[in-house]
Amino acid sequence: MYRIIRVPPEKGEEIRKRAVTERFLDTTRKIQKLQNAEGIFLEIPVTEAAGEKVGDFLVIEQENPGFSKKPSSLKEYLKDFLSEVELTYAPTGWQILGDIIIVSIPENLDEKKFLIAEALLSMYPKCKTVVRDFGIEGQFRQPKRELLLGSRTETIHKEHGCFFKQDVTKVMYSKGNLEERKRMSRLGKGEVIVDMFAGIGYFSIPMAVHSRPKKITGIEINPESFAYLKENIRLNKVEDIFTPICGDCSKVTSEGTADRVLMGYVGTTHHYLEPAIKALKESGGILHYHETVPETLARTRPQERIRDAACTLGKKVDILETRKIKKYSPGVFHMVVDAWIFK
Ligand SMILES: C[S@@+](CC[C@H](N)C(=O)[O-])C[C@H]1O[C@@H](n2cnc3c(N)ncnc32)[C@H](O)[C@@H]1O
Repeated sequence: MYRIIRVPPEKGEEIRKRAVTERFLDTTRKIQKLQNAEGIFLEIPVTEAAGEKVGDFLVIEQENPGFSKKPSSLKEYLKDFLSEVELTYAPTGWQILGDIIIVSIPENLDEKKFLIAEALLSMYPKCKTVVRDFGIEGQFRQPKRELLLGSRTETIHKEHGCFFKQDVTKVMYSKGNLEERKRMSRLGKGEVIVDMFAGIGYFSIPMAVHSRPKKITGIEINPESFAYLKENIRLNKVEDIFTPICGDCSKVTSEGTADRVLMGYVGTTHHYLEPAIKALKESGGILHYHETVPETLARTRPQERIRDAACTLGKKVDILETRKIKKYSPGVFHMVVDAWIFK
């Protein structure tokens, strides 16, 4: 049965808005005008979730439903609901993790946030939740997010043959680091690995799944990320080679055992260079050192910091590669340096 609420035109906008915010608008059908002996009405298409009555209006069966053509972009979905100026501010990108859509919405579209969320859910019928993003904060890299539609914020994101269970309101997952996650998945075969900033396993789970190192130790300071790291080790069936440790990597990293150390953290990563270098085997090993750095210093400062820390510990450095991972903020790049450290 195709359900509608038949309302006088002056009530149309109020009921449509209510249908959007209370999530019972049926976006697969158009709002239609009807003229009969009793006057002119608007037929607002609704789903079963509307129940039997909305305010004073009964939910009734529609005789001649008109179906919407599936719009091809978010702007097209929103064009009947946002002004032309508002449309210029509408989001042009979003992230999908599992069945959750994460979107940043500018402040001047605050009042349209539920409409935008509804439009995104219509575009991705397999998704169940929309969350608004306000950025990442602090040492634990915790996201500030608002649940807009749906109820569950925990999901399992599948990427490159790996499972990443996470609560998107508690932990971050950077889409810009995808290529680096894939690159890590090709390294480390048969080696001893230390991931000093393991998070939920962003880099070390792909490595464990695809390269099968001899042993991986993943260290994570944030108990919420750590709980998901443990869960992801189990989901990806790498318990036999992966040991998670909850703690501060500057204090708990073992010395002289690793062939390769991952430093996938930005902000103050250089403060951890000495324990990272100490973690490598005496005979030598590789660092994957991340840093956010002004564009003009991108090819010099990270290398200098590695050399300075190595020099303090009486070690030598051979820079193997320097790569830009992504633009981090205006004029700032997220860089990775691969360095061979030896005596
Ligand atoms: C930025 S996240 C990793 C993000 C990842 N690169 C990605 O692809 O999305 C870095 C992790 O390091 C953790 N961390 C920060 N300081 C730490 C420390 N001293 N010891 C261990 N973990 C730490 C944070 O809690 C966070 O989960």
